Parts: sequence; structure tokens; C-alpha cells
Amino acid sequence: MSDPNAGKRAAARAAADLIQDGTTVGFGTGSTFRFVLERLAERMRDGLKVRGVPTSKATAELAQTLGVPVVALDEVERLDLAIDGADEVDPQKNLIKGGGGAHVRERIVAAAAKELVVIVDDSKLVPVLGKAFLLPVEVLPFGWKHSERRVAATGCKPQLRQRDGKPFVTDNGNYVLDCKYDGIDDPAWLDDHLDGLVGVVDHGLFVGMAGRVLVGDAAGKVRTIG
Ligand code: A5P
Repeated sequence: MSDPNAGKRAAARAAADLIQDGTTVGFGTGSTFRFVLERLAERMRDGLKVRGVPTSKATAELAQTLGVPVVALDEVERLDLAIDGADEVDPQKNLIKGGGGAHVRERIVAAAAKELVVIVDDSKLVPVLGKAFLLPVEVLPFGWKHSERRVAATGCKPQLRQRDGKPFVTDNGNYVLDCKYDGIDDPAWLDDHLDGLVGVVDHGLFVGMAGRVLVGDAAGKVRTIG
């Protein structure tokens, strides 16, 4: 039977192999990034020295379990590289992220890095963002229904993310609105516009932030969109 994770694993391992000895790297979040940590643990057994700034508590815990050292962002000046997954990637390498609710820290860590290397399987490539995947928007719990109305006015249907019948709470203590757009025709406009809304902390639209995008396929081959 074919491995449903072959594409993710291949892209992740290729990205892990870009990491140079003695560097500090941004550690993303999600099922694809997990394979990066597994590969790094292997490389460390062969002598690689590396440490990472995790974008979520889940990644920090997994790294610690695998014996990969982590460090807080404010303990480092600059990151050589950040590696992370994505939910959708368009032909301009704009991204939707935040399926795991870690997009706010993911953006901060990516912004601190010389390059954000994105790792996806080919199912994540789309002609237009936001036709299939909902855009996550993180809002403060205080007055969130008012923030929701402002977000809806950008042309979407927002839905409060739930977990076990309660609002999902991010590592930052906030709520997430998953927003259904009928395609995001102008990601740069929406990026700017959402950032200016009262009550919005940040969102999962990454415009012009991605460096290389490594795309894995079901046969385990990886191509790079540069
Ligand atoms: C986490 O909040 C996200 O931004 C993930 O990086 C993204 O959802 C990709 O996740 P998977 O690798 O699990 O598909």
C-alpha cells in the first residue's frame, strides 16, 4: 500500500538536510514538520549540532522528546533558516497557514529568519488561495464577536474554531476564526487589511514571506520552487 505521507516526509527530509552544522533554525508546527525533527534526530546521531526556536508548545515538546535542543526566540539575534509546513501555496508562493493554530508564532519566527523554507506535498499547491482552505484569523477573546463582524466585512464567513465543544485556545491564549472566502484574489490587500482590524492579533495569510518551497510527491521525489 502506498504511504499517504510520502510527499510530506520527502519534502521535510530534504529541508532537514539543508541545515548546516552549528546553526539555529526556526522550527515550524504540524504533521509535515514532524518529519524534519525525526530527520534532525538522525543527523544528530551522526554528529550534527543544531538547535531550534519552536513555533508552538507541541513542537517544543516533540523536539525535547526526540532530543533536539530548543531555545527561546529572544535568546537569539537572528535565525539562519526557518522551516515550516503550509496549508495552501499559490503560484506566487503566498501561503495559508494556521491549520494547527500556530500561525502567529510561525510568522514571528519566520520574520526573524534569513529564509523561510516551506515544506509541502503536492496536494497543497493551489491556483488561488482560500477556495478550499479556511483562513485562520487569531483574535483576542475579549469582544471576539465584535472582531468577528469586522473580519466578516472583508468578504468572508468566519466560524469560531472549536475543540471538544469549547473555543479552541491558541498557545497565546487567543481564539481562532476560520474564515471561508470564495477565493482570495488579492492576498496582499487582505494581509494589510486584516492586520489593521481592532481585536485581530494576526492571521495565517503569508504574503511574500516564503523563500524556497520544497514540494514532495507520492513517489518521494522533491522539487524546489525557488
Ligand atoms: C500550523 O499552525 C500550520 O501553519 C501548519 O504549518 C500547517 O497547517 C501545515 O500543517 P501540516 O503539515 O500538518 O499539513
